[in-house]
Amino acid sequence: MSEKTFPVSAEFAAQANINKAQFEEMYARSIDDPEGFWDEQANKYVSWFKPWKKTMDWSFDQEDLHINWFTEAKLNVSYNCIDRHLEKRADQVAIIWEGDSPEDTRKITYRELHEEVSKFANVLKARGVEKGDRVSLYLPMIPEAAIAMLACTRIGAIHSIVFGGFSPEALASRINDSDCRVVITADQSMRGGRRVPLKSNADIALEHCPNVHSCIVVKRGGDPIEWTEDRDVWYHEAVDAASADCEPEQMDSEDPLFILYTSGSTGTPKGVQHTTGGYLVQAAMTHEAVFDYKEGDVYWCTADVGWVTGHTYIVYGPLANGATTVMFEGIPTYPDISRFWEVVDKHNVSIFYTAPTAIRSLMGAGNEPVEKTSRKSLRVLGTVGEPINPEAWEWYYNIVGNGKCPIVDTWWQTETGGHMMTPLPGVNDLKPGSAMQPFFGVNPVLLDDEGNEIEGSPAAGNLAIDRPWPAMIRTVFGDHKRFYETYFSMFKGYYFTGDGARRDEDGHYWITGRVDDVLNVSGHRLGTAEIEAALGLHEKVAEAAVVGYPHDLTGQGIYAYVTLMDGEVGTDELKTELVKLVRAEIGPIAKINLIQWSPGLPKTRSGKIMRRILRKIATNEIDSLGDTSTLADPSVVDDLIEHRENS
Ligand code: WT7
Repeated sequence: MSEKTFPVSAEFAAQANINKAQFEEMYARSIDDPEGFWDEQANKYVSWFKPWKKTMDWSFDQEDLHINWFTEAKLNVSYNCIDRHLEKRADQVAIIWEGDSPEDTRKITYRELHEEVSKFANVLKARGVEKGDRVSLYLPMIPEAAIAMLACTRIGAIHSIVFGGFSPEALASRINDSDCRVVITADQSMRGGRRVPLKSNADIALEHCPNVHSCIVVKRGGDPIEWTEDRDVWYHEAVDAASADCEPEQMDSEDPLFILYTSGSTGTPKGVQHTTGGYLVQAAMTHEAVFDYKEGDVYWCTADVGWVTGHTYIVYGPLANGATTVMFEGIPTYPDISRFWEVVDKHNVSIFYTAPTAIRSLMGAGNEPVEKTSRKSLRVLGTVGEPINPEAWEWYYNIVGNGKCPIVDTWWQTETGGHMMTPLPGVNDLKPGSAMQPFFGVNPVLLDDEGNEIEGSPAAGNLAIDRPWPAMIRTVFGDHKRFYETYFSMFKGYYFTGDGARRDEDGHYWITGRVDDVLNVSGHRLGTAEIEAALGLHEKVAEAAVVGYPHDLTGQGIYAYVTLMDGEVGTDELKTELVKLVRAEIGPIAKINLIQWSPGLPKTRSGKIMRRILRKIATNEIDSLGDTSTLADPSVVDDLIEHRENS
């Protein structure tokens, strides 16, 4: 942790949307008078067809768990992101698409976006999609992904995006869990010059999805694909034949907007369900306040729409604000390691938002690839996804931002829908690695393991939130009981984030990482249970336990303890097989770094695996194993220590 602070410049503060005095006044009001505060923001950022009756109506109690914002109000997200801008900015570019190859660029104005989205909405209707139906998107980072999202919102369908890096198995389980009948994919994706056969992955998935009647295919690369008559439809053919007239549906503020699957500590990934009104208010407001967004900015978030960051900060937030948003198909190192900065110069990007893992890997290549570009258009930098180490933060600040761009380190989650803790660029003297302070309306608390609030500073504990915020998760799709159990059962009366945090002497927050069985590998969230289940599919595997350990480049690495059926030590070939199996089951992001053959696992007498001990062994903190007296067979631990893999 660094002791240095980086003061906000007087020049930046003078032009900022929100300065320190304004922040303090607004934040106090957002906590003391949430209804008055959010009424104002909802009217400022969103256009409503019909006003609300009650600003918020909620309970975190088990019997009555519900969260409603802007009750009975009507609105439409695609109307807010497109139609209402047409009067002023029909010819302004809404989306700049930068393809994998620097030669591939496409600019889409708000007028064109309106036409494409309306047409595709009509295509969906013609395929039988109705309000409330779920539609699965398995797409590369191409404009059609944003168009399909907006087309769903136009007719009130609920999209469920599955990241294009997920395997056919992962896609199939997500399609079936939310009963999607229509799937939108592309023949292939292009990343770093490499192709991923999305359509053939989808074909494999759809063998296990009997209810899917339509597969709409965007032509991205033109490689030959298999075709299932009656089920498969070319996107371009369907859109060409469709009318560009499609009235936006009047949606209730609490109608579901999208489902996005994410990993938790137990079981299969959960469908995090977000709704319409509150989500859009927080998406638009955070996009403007946190990035100090202003008319004329070119804004670029490098995430993929398969993650929540892409939903809120590539599509919904920026478009609700009438911004120009960059959508990038490729990777930071292709065709060379200067690509990010070349794209910044090419499109005059002023706000740039990326992940610590990308910064760390680019930092490894030195300053020259950055310094040979101008980057003079940059004004604000952002990071998200995992804690950023001070060294990477300072490199980002000094080398990428030339020491003149504030960095917003935004802490939030798939479940929170939008930013929850972050510095504001015109407000805070920055501390590298700190998410600093809560956003408006958010009241974070640190709880001890018994659920008592820890008052005062400095302090450290489990990070929880004591009241709802507009973009909050509303339920787990199809499993309201699991919603309660996952987020509200641990600490009664609070939403539990799964993260640990500390509050420093000045009251600023530092996220210390997950305290549950969730891993964060290169900013991607993985459940240990999913990886263990995949390992368990191998006929030779009797049992597996997976933990994370610190990794210089990816933040966390994956360490698997595997017990074989015969209790013996396996071969290196078997290790390779297991790594491949997990990759095939989940996707390339689930790459196991280390496997240790474990004749036995440390268990309590009731048979529960003691992961705390496994984590300590993986991180080589053998001296602080803690209490091992409750183990059924303590000698297991000595064997594991003796044969630990070097992490
Ligand atoms: C988890 C949520 C929110 C979009 C991307 C990830 C970690 C996220 C930060 C940050 C430290 C962070 C937390 C959180 N995380 N942002 N700025 N500093 N940690 O969304 O996949 O739902 O993962 O990512 O551990 O709980 P997600």
